[in-house]
Amino acid sequence: MRYSRIIGTGSALPEKVVTNHDLEKILDTSDTWIRERTGISERRVAADGQTTCDLAEQACKQVLERTGVDPKSIDLLVLGTTTPNLIFPSTACLLQDRLGMQECAAFDVNAACSGFIYALSVADQFVRNGTVKRALVVGAETLTRMLDWSDRSTAVLFADGAGAAIIEASDEPGVLSTHIHANGGHANLLCADVGVSEGFKQGEPRGGLKVLMTGNEVFKVAVRTLGRIVDETLEANNMDKADIDWLIPHQANLRIIQATAKKLNMPMERVIVTVHKHGNTSSASVPLALDEAISTGQVKRGENLLLEAFGGGFTWGAALIRY
Ligand code: ACO
Repeated sequence: MRYSRIIGTGSALPEKVVTNHDLEKILDTSDTWIRERTGISERRVAADGQTTCDLAEQACKQVLERTGVDPKSIDLLVLGTTTPNLIFPSTACLLQDRLGMQECAAFDVNAACSGFIYALSVADQFVRNGTVKRALVVGAETLTRMLDWSDRSTAVLFADGAGAAIIEASDEPGVLSTHIHANGGHANLLCADVGVSEGFKQGEPRGGLKVLMTGNEVFKVAVRTLGRIVDETLEANNMDKADIDWLIPHQANLRIIQATAKKLNMPMERVIVTVHKHGNTSSASVPLALDEAISTGQVKRGENLLLEAFGGGFTWGAALIRY
């Protein structure tokens, strides 16, 4: 049986730290409200001119250096992002050039916060079916570029960053299964409602480009849906909750993470949490948490990791990985 295995990870964060106390100065909010409702204390914000591709490049160079992989030996590049540098070429194409890769397929996946799980799922299929041997999977965002900094309901939540993983064909179990879903029926609960085809809004900053979210509605759907995807993933692998060693969730809200951990009967010591220092970095959130888990030595080879995410679309997904 052919699997894809993670052979290394990397990550990148902008230098600029914005704390809740910094936000208290520009918004009608408080550190206590933000920490109690979301678990976030601080987040990273890209510098002027620092792009999604810049952060992705930094994360990829780290994983290439750590693994010693020659970029020319990579057969596929899939990048999850909702905040591409340009409308086209894709950020994946820009990144491919910067990394000096050969003419492998390179494309973006837009699945909002589920972007990395979607990208991993796509790359895993290519490796599993024998089309490619090695793939670079990235989640990268500069989500703060599309925030309305006067809207306290979104400005306190989102942030910037990038994470990357190299996966490779192996006879040893690695990615055991991936599960991705979408339901466009609730698109209006979480969206940015302008674009090339629909058009931009006259007289509004950046043509009306901003994140719109009905947070409490999204919260309820997210908790329910993540509970279902956990069951689906365990069933598909004939596994029990007790077989999962680590939960590596999307970092949107500590309360959502705790609800999923409870569903798995998992103590919070077995859950990778970065939301307090990273905020919600959308597609970058899961690979940033994965990289932290691996680079700090918390996760050991042979352990079972459950990665999950939920985001705008709605989109959601999970990956069960024997590390
Ligand atoms: N500071 C202070 N008060 C605030 C703030 C703030 N930053 N934001 C909202 N409030 C107020 C509201 O106005 C409301 O006041 P009211 O009761 O007087 O009307 C009160 O706080 C409660 O608001 P809720 O929205 O009901 O608060 P909730 O407990 O639901 O927390 C939050 C809001 C944190 C957004 C939560 O709903 C959440 O995390 N939702 C899910 C987000 C998510 O998972 N998104 C998916 C991924 S993102 C992506 O795909 C791009």
